[in-house]
Order: sequence, then structure tokens, then C-alpha cells
Amino acid sequence: NSLTVGLIPADGIGREVIPAARDAIVAVQQELPPLKFIDLLAGWDTFTRTGTALPSETVRALKDECDCALFGSVSSPSRKVAGYSSPIVALRKELDLYANIRPVRSVSADASTPPTTDLIVVRENTECLYVKDEKLVNTDNGKEARAIRLITERASTRIGKIAFELAKARPRKAGTGSNCCYFSDLLQLVTIIHKSNVLSVTDGLFRESVRAVPVAANGKFDDVTIEEQLVDSAVYRLFREPQIYDVMVAPNLYGDIISDAAAALVGSLGVIPSINAGDNFVMGEPVHGSAPDIAGKGIANPVASIRSAALMLRHLGYSSPADKIDKAVNDTLAPGKVLTADLGGSSSTSEVTKHIMGLIEAQ
Ligand code: NAI
Ligand code: MG
Repeated sequence: NSLTVGLIPADGIGREVIPAARDAIVAVQQELPPLKFIDLLAGWDTFTRTGTALPSETVRALKDECDCALFGSVSSPSRKVAGYSSPIVALRKELDLYANIRPVRSVSADASTPPTTDLIVVRENTECLYVKDEKLVNTDNGKEARAIRLITERASTRIGKIAFELAKARPRKAGTGSNCCYFSDLLQLVTIIHKSNVLSVTDGLFRESVRAVPVAANGKFDDVTIEEQLVDSAVYRLFREPQIYDVMVAPNLYGDIISDAAAALVGSLGVIPSINAGDNFVMGEPVHGSAPDIAGKGIANPVASIRSAALMLRHLGYSSPADKIDKAVNDTLAPGKVLTADLGGSSSTSEVTKHIMGLIEAQ
């Protein structure tokens, strides 16, 4: 019995924040099986040095030796580079990590005040426009670019199941003294995000497949209410009344955009964790990118990565050590004294990390 964690810092601030996530896991190790960490390569830098962004050894080690992994961030170029393709997108596919789960929660100044934003974006992780089936054609009228958007019943159904399971496992919002939920009688809620008024075939299939999940579940999800929201107005309402959302389930591209938007509500991308989960593997990953504007300065916020480590442990069933990490993070953010610059503070990555580790050890 052991827990082997693959570490893939990749590029930019990934190299500064993944060590902090590792420290957090080490800090709770007495509640975990014997730990082993394996350092693995991937990313743009790896590509420029070796000609591949995702070495086959990395994939092999993840599959054969690791129980889970932490991924930092890659610096993918916006232009097309021959031979390069994003390793994170490839890893999600390779390991069939079909669910990207992104909790977004605002920090309250004191424990008795409920957070105004407390939601989870459940993003389908393997298809939609991110199948990257793009084509450039020269026509008589100039260049024409086309992309395939793939939506399958199978992938939509399995992401729908994850959304309902999460909603069912969430603390009930009303009746617990908290008033997060806009509709006080909606205790657990799944909101399906789509645009099937325009894309009636693709988004229509997504919507129908998710809606079919509770129908097929023989009453298991009877307590969970289903709502729908078109993606554009979903973003609008997210900014005006974030408290109306609980679990939001979306196809890949919408989910990507909504979760970055939700990050703005709680102050910074630097605090939003995620996991990429499949039936057999889980990979923690901060939602942010490689942040080239601040990389190398030692000022990146380590919280997103530390929380990703907690989320990963929780997914693996280690909820007590995950709670410890989350509590230490919240107790660091709430007083607002030891913060990185993205949250208006002046502490460094290592100062924030040290402070959080101190609070874990004090528990
Ligand atoms: P980004 O998330 O890297 O940065 C957006 C802004 O947020 C920047 O001002 C950055 O300084 C700030 N920020 C992000 N994380 C932070 C942290 N932990 N602490 C403090 N500030 C933080 O997004 P951007 O600029 O659009 O992309 C930069 C590169 O990252 C691109 O090459 C992109 O392809 C890549 N990227 C990679 C992702 C991944 O590995 N999964 C996800 C998103 C972007
Ligand atoms: Mg993104």
C-alpha cells in the first residue's frame, strides 16, 4: 500500500507552484500511505529541447507507476508550430480523464458568513471543439477555416453523471443556516450550460444526454434539481448573481471559459484548483496557465496548486488530509495578511507556502 504521485510542473509558473503542492501533500503524509513522488517532463520547454511536448516515458510512468499526478501549466504558443501539440490536452485524452472539475468558492472574512460564490464547474474534457479537427482551405473567396465540434451521447452522459453525483454529495445550501442559494427551496442543483437554441444538434445532444441521467438513475438523483442556462446569459448571470449556481455542467469550450470567468468573481485565477478525473486516474491541475508575465519572479500564487493537491486527495478518498490542507488555505486567505500580489498582497510564493504549511502542522 503506497501512494505514488507523478509531478509534471511543465512551464512557467508551473515550476514555482507545483513544488508548493508537493509540500502540502508531504505536510499531511501521516494520514496517507507511504508517499513516492516521480518527476516527469512535458511542455513547451521540453518540446524545444527534445522535439516532443509529451515524452512517451512520461505517459508510460503515469500509466504504470503512478496513482495520481499533479500538472502545472504549459506555455502553448498561439500560432501553429509544426510538431507541437498541447501535452495537457493529450494527457487528458491518453488517460481518459473525461471530467474537469473546478470548484470556485469565495472566501468569507469569518466562518459565519456564507460565501457569495460557491459553485463547481464540471467541464467535459475530451471532445467539443477541442478534438482539434481543424482545416484551412483556400477557396475562390480567400481562406476558409473549419473546425469539427464533436459531441457524443456517451461522453455527455458520463459527464452528466459526474455532475449529478457531485451535486448529490454537496452540502445542502438551504436549511443549514447558509443562504447561498438564490432559490431557497433548491437544495442541490445542476445547471446545464448550452446554446441549443442555435446549435440544436450538438448542444441539443449534450442537453438531452445530461437530462437523461437522472431519468435513468431510478430515483437516485430525485433530490437534485435541474436547470438550464444558455451559455452567454450564464456568464452574465454568473457576474450578477453568482449565488444562483451550484453545479454547472458544460461542454468543453464553454466550461473552459465559464471557469476562468468564475475565477474573476473570487479575486484571482491563482486560487482556483481543478482535477482531471477519469474512472482510473486523477490529475490535479491549477486552472491558470503558465503566466509568462510573472514567471521566474517568485511571486506566483501557490494556492490554486495547493488546493488542486487537496482536491486530488479528496477524489482518492483521503478527505481528512484534504480538509486539513483546505482549512490552512482558507485560514491564510481570510485574514488577508499573507497574500501574493494577484490578491493585493506583497508576499512571495515561498512566504505564502510556508505560512500554509505552518497552519497545516498546527492542526
Ligand atoms: P494565464 O493563466 O497564464 O495568465 C492570466 C493572468 O493571470 C496573467 O496576468 C497571470 O499573471 C495571472 N495569473 C495566472 N496564474 C497566476 C498565479 N498562480 N498567481 C498570480 N497570477 C496569476 O493565462 P494566459 O496569459 O492566457 O496564458 C499564458 C500561457 O499559459 C499560454 O501559453 C497558454 O497557452 C497557457 N495556458 C496553459 C494552461 C494549462 O496548462 N492548462 C491553461 C491556460 C493557459
Ligand atoms: Mg482555461
